[in-house]
Order: sequence, then structure tokens, then C-alpha cells
Amino acid sequence: MSPKTLLITGGSGYLGSQIIRFAQHWAVHATYLHHPPTPSQEVTYHQCDFREPKQVEQLLKTIRPNVIIHTACSNQSQDNLHSILPAAHNLVRAAVTINARFIHISTDLVFDGAHGPYTEEATPSPLSEYGKAKAESEDIVLTHDPKALVVRPSLIYGIDPIDHQTRWLLHGIDEQQPVTLFTDEFRSPIWVNTLCLALLELANHSVTGILHLAGDQDINRWEFGLAMLTMLKRSTPPNVVPSTIQESGLVRPHNLTLDTSKAQSLLKTPLLSVAEVTQNFCQQESFLH
Ligand SMILES: NC(=O)c1ccc[n+]([C@@H]2O[C@H](COP(=O)([O-])OP(=O)(O)OC[C@H]3O[C@@H](n4cnc5c(N)ncnc54)[C@H](OP(=O)(O)O)[C@@H]3O)[C@@H](O)[C@H]2O)c1
Repeated sequence: MSPKTLLITGGSGYLGSQIIRFAQHWAVHATYLHHPPTPSQEVTYHQCDFREPKQVEQLLKTIRPNVIIHTACSNQSQDNLHSILPAAHNLVRAAVTINARFIHISTDLVFDGAHGPYTEEATPSPLSEYGKAKAESEDIVLTHDPKALVVRPSLIYGIDPIDHQTRWLLHGIDEQQPVTLFTDEFRSPIWVNTLCLALLELANHSVTGILHLAGDQDINRWEFGLAMLTMLKRSTPPNVVPSTIQESGLVRPHNLTLDTSKAQSLLKTPLLSVAEVTQNFCQQESFLH
């Protein structure tokens, strides 16, 4: 039997590029916009700007994927940010016309952090422009396709390659800039390999609506930063210090922890805690799952 076809949007991004690594049982197509990935036999890459409806329609009609995992459009640049709404709109509309299963990646930042841990039933209350766009994109997706799945991951972390936040931390350390990590900001970070395996499991599942995908541990940003440095075998230099959101004067969500009971009851993939990942990683450097 020939494998089913999977389209991963954002194949040049952090999460998209990692899903490709795990999707051996699929015929994989992936997209990029500004950063063409190195060609590979495992995947067919396509350049597409999701703000352009005609490009999106053409892409989906050509590939006719069974499943689309829409990772593209993050908070890493203004271009990404301003693409969130048009991309969701154009992709979900085109996905419906070819009857593809649509998995939309959102974020825990749709909440304000005042009432964590959040279940899927909690009402979004975003503080940032990014959180607002993601919350709106969720509505667009579920309105156009009630059979779609909206996944809200917590912070995504990994070592090979290193995730966005940890790269920021290492850059600050290497440049000897002051780096403050908040002790009063809580998340439920998810190991990128766990997230990829869970998303591929969900690609073959029929669950619809909203699903929280996060690691099985609520942790503050300071302790999380120290765990990442441990995994990377780096010491904590004096320019990395604990602080609080209150001291910084910033408006940031305090408690964005996610309740993952629903995901745990659906999935075989274990939602590893940061402590489990750190322990496994330190025991076996080639640790993958
Ligand atoms: N990273 C996290 O900790 C985190 C946490 C929670 C949720 N999320 C969500 O998870 C998803 C993946 O995040 P990530 O960190 O992997 O993102 P990322 O590394 O910033 O990658 C973003 C991708 O979007 C593509 N893109 C941007 N604008 C586009 C457009 N107009 N048309 C087509 N492609 C476009 C980029 O393509 P080019 O680079 O080729 O231009 C890139 O492949 C995002 O939806 C993000 O909101 C991330």
C-alpha cells in the first residue's frame, strides 16, 4: 500500500523541519518561503507564500495531501506575525475543498496567564499581538472546518538543533550580555521530539476541536533555563540571573501552564517532563524519543 501524503507547512522552520525527520511512514511534502532547505530524498519542498490565495490553491491541488500540519507563521519576525491570519484563512479554505485533515498549530500564548493551568475549554484572553492573531486564527480554522484540529503547544525545546529560546539564552551568554530568567513565569515546555511524534499520531487520528500538547511538568523560566544548560553541559555564568516579571516592569503572562488530560487520554506518545528529558538526555546523548 502506498503511503499517505502529508503536507507540512513551515518545512524550513524549527518545528516543521523536525516533523519531517519523524515522518518516515508518509509521502512528505513541505513548504518554505524565504529559506529554501537543503534538498533531501525524504521530502519534496515547495516554495509558497500563504498570504497569496492563488498560490495556496495551486499548491494543494497539485499535492492533494491527506493531512496538512500547518506549523508556518510564528512570532519570530513581523513577516511571520502578519502572515498568521491570511495563511490560516487561505490554507483552511483550500484544505476543505480537497477534504484534507487540517491540523493547525497555535500556542499557549492565547491565554493571559492569570488562570493557569488552562484546559481546552478556557476562553482565550491573549495579551500580545501574536497571541491575539493566533486566537483569531483558531476561530478562522474551526469556523471553516469544524473537523479540523487546533493544537496548542507550550514552549517547544530541543537540542539538535537548538530551539529558538535556548539559542537566545546561549547568544546572551556568549555575548556576555545580562540575561534575566523569570522565576514567576510558568510554562509546561514540550520536547520537540515528543511534539513531532504526538502530531504524527494525531495525523492518523480523527479527534477534532482544540487540544493542548505540553510536557508533564510546570516549570518557571529560570529553572527551565538551568535545565537546558545542564543538557548542553554548560555552566551557569554570572551574567545569567533569576528575576521576576514584576521587577522587569513588563506585562507578561505569569502562568501559562496547560492541562493535558485530554491529550494524555488520547495519545500513546508519552508527554515527557523536562526532568525526564534531562535525565534521559544526560544518560544517553543520542537520546531521541
Ligand atoms: N517555538 C515555540 O516555542 C512555539 C511555542 C508554541 C507554539 N509555536 C507555534 O509553532 C509553530 C512552529 O513554530 P516554529 O518556532 O517552528 O516557527 P519558525 O521556526 O519561526 O518557522 C516559521 C515558518 O513559517 C514560514 N512562513 C512564515 N511566513 C510565511 C508565509 N507568509 N508563507 C509561507 N510560509 C511562511 C517560515 O518560512 P521561511 O523561514 O522559509 O520564510 C518558516 O518555515 C508556529 O505556528 C508557532 O506559532 C511555537
